[in-house]
Amino acid sequence: MVLIRRDLSLKRFNTFGIDVKASYFARAESIEEIVELLEDHRHYFPFYVIGGGSNILFTKNFGGLILQPAIKGINIIDNGPEHCIVETGAGENWDDFVRWAVENNLGGIENLSFIPGSTGSSPIQNIGAYGVEVKDVIERVNYLDLETLQFFSLSNSECDFGYRSSIFKNKLKNRVIITSVVFKLLHHPVLNTAYGNLQEEINRMGRADLCTVRNAVISIRKLKLPDPELTGNAGSFFKNPVIDAGSARELKERYHNMPVFPVSDDRTKIPAGWLIEQCGWKGKRFGNAGVHDKQALVLINCGNASGIEIMDLALKIKDSVFSQFGIKLETEVNIL
Ligand code: EPU
Repeated sequence: MVLIRRDLSLKRFNTFGIDVKASYFARAESIEEIVELLEDHRHYFPFYVIGGGSNILFTKNFGGLILQPAIKGINIIDNGPEHCIVETGAGENWDDFVRWAVENNLGGIENLSFIPGSTGSSPIQNIGAYGVEVKDVIERVNYLDLETLQFFSLSNSECDFGYRSSIFKNKLKNRVIITSVVFKLLHHPVLNTAYGNLQEEINRMGRADLCTVRNAVISIRKLKLPDPELTGNAGSFFKNPVIDAGSARELKERYHNMPVFPVSDDRTKIPAGWLIEQCGWKGKRFGNAGVHDKQALVLINCGNASGIEIMDLALKIKDSVFSQFGIKLETEVNIL
């Protein structure tokens, strides 16, 4: 029997640290437990599935059942000369998995070190950092359909991965529970150290191997991003906007120091953190909601912020970026 808790505070289940309640909350430690829960209760509640709660902003109490899949396990399912195919239960902590990979000399995810959340959530928004996205190493995603209670397995190409996006944020949004993810890790990885000051940090550490890349990424993240244990946040609050290359050129003529990253011949990515900083928001605080002083893309809970306070600040930021640059920021975090 799965334990269903009533009127539970979700404060410790979301990295923003927002204190709202769920009418019902359950952790399911196996596929059988998930199926049992859904069979017994699916007609009664709206459901919401959370992983590590690291990419969500709760704005009010949730009147249904919050389900947290806690399926564990890191299992090698095929070990060839080039690749190691590994399946992880959706409830495995993401960074524990990265550490496991690095300790076992398996490459491909070391640049994604220290990202909060679970492995089961990693494909949903196609987590990415320092030049790597998780789609680069995902073989398959296995899930249970909440409505039909049938199991499905999608190959990488069927997941429709894009920048901070996948089929699980679009067509299958709120319709599935990811039960496990299959990764293809490399025995002889080529280190990817071109992003920002990563190479500089690695040089400072004096060696170039998986463990050094992991440590360098962790040290950069610690400098720029607030520790959710101390300051509630959900990492980047907005996506970096991708605009047409012509508009980017016009803006660049007006703002010479604007960083631009061409993503194709006709599309250019602009760092939202830069846009927000230019509008004067970096380090600003409104009541209990604030903008991180070392990375303007991160909104923070300065005390006991409500989700609405964070949202109000986000809307003010969106309005001012739009009026100064004509660019509409989209939220990266899921708002509930
Ligand atoms: N920048 C500013 N001011 C700021 C922040 C950034 O001017 O306050 C400029 C910097 O000068 C830099 C550029 O923006 O040239 C990029 O900054 P950074 O390397 O910090 O990365 P980002 O584009 O702001 C993205 C991801 C992060 C990821 C980093 C590193 C998104 C939405 N965010 O941020 O992911 O860690 O790259 O790869 O794509 C997350 O998704 O939660 C997250 C933290």
